[in-house]
Amino acid sequence: MYSEILSQLGSRNPWRSQIHYFDTIDSTNTKAKEMALQGAPHGSVLIADRQTGGRGRMGRSFYSPGGMGIYMSVILRPQYPAAQLMHLTCAAAVAMCDAVEKTTGLRPGIKWTNDLVIGRKKVAGILTELGLNGENGNIDHAVIGIGINCRQAEQDFPDDIRSTATSLSLAAGKPVDRAALAANMITAFEEMSRNLIHKDAVLDRYRADCITLGQEVSILSNQQVRHGKALDIDSDGGLIVRFPDGHLEAIGAGEVSVRGMYGYI
Ligand code: BTN
Repeated sequence: MYSEILSQLGSRNPWRSQIHYFDTIDSTNTKAKEMALQGAPHGSVLIADRQTGGRGRMGRSFYSPGGMGIYMSVILRPQYPAAQLMHLTCAAAVAMCDAVEKTTGLRPGIKWTNDLVIGRKKVAGILTELGLNGENGNIDHAVIGIGINCRQAEQDFPDDIRSTATSLSLAAGKPVDRAALAANMITAFEEMSRNLIHKDAVLDRYRADCITLGQEVSILSNQQVRHGKALDIDSDGGLIVRFPDGHLEAIGAGEVSVRGMYGYI
């Protein structure tokens, strides 16, 4: 798989020599954080065939069987304060939609903040973790991890996610070339890292892909559920929601889960 990815990746891709491939690992994000603390450079890429402890947002696990998905983490070292990079996960989601579209011809939608969905089912999730420089508040490193379901058939998903998960092969109705997808993901991440500075353009592209906008949503935080209508994405990537009493609130990604009124979407 490693050599196939390299042969599909442009020969001038600046991250080519920084790709680390693992047959099995607990979590590429955990390993990437360790490597970042040991000084791994900007643009280090970790890819695994299988994860034994794949992690999702809010302490959830991410099902990561071998031969089925792409589990990838990239280490970035952006030269900006954390406050200027709130749109990082949005940028990653748009970049991964680009990579999926290039590989399969299908463009996923984005369920705020960072699930990629096709046909109302989740096909990928993104977990961004930041390491801050305590002295100046700048970002020392960011690790962006993405897991994409590629080749699963319906029966390959565990019971608890079967009704809400899909794979690219299921959605496309044909097998998907995982090495081509991985190469397109690396290319898209590299482009994204150069374009982060163009925040307004990134957020406009995000709004265009975001299927949550215009929807009635349930917001789950601190064991509490509130209902409202998702109206827009603010300049930090927050979700602007109008509540029944008319007031608007920007919901941050933190410990919040947003769902449609009638299920996952
Ligand atoms: C989510 O859906 O909540 C986010 C899932 C993120 C999964 C990816 S797979 C590669 C990287 N390593 C991990 O342990 N998690 C991310």
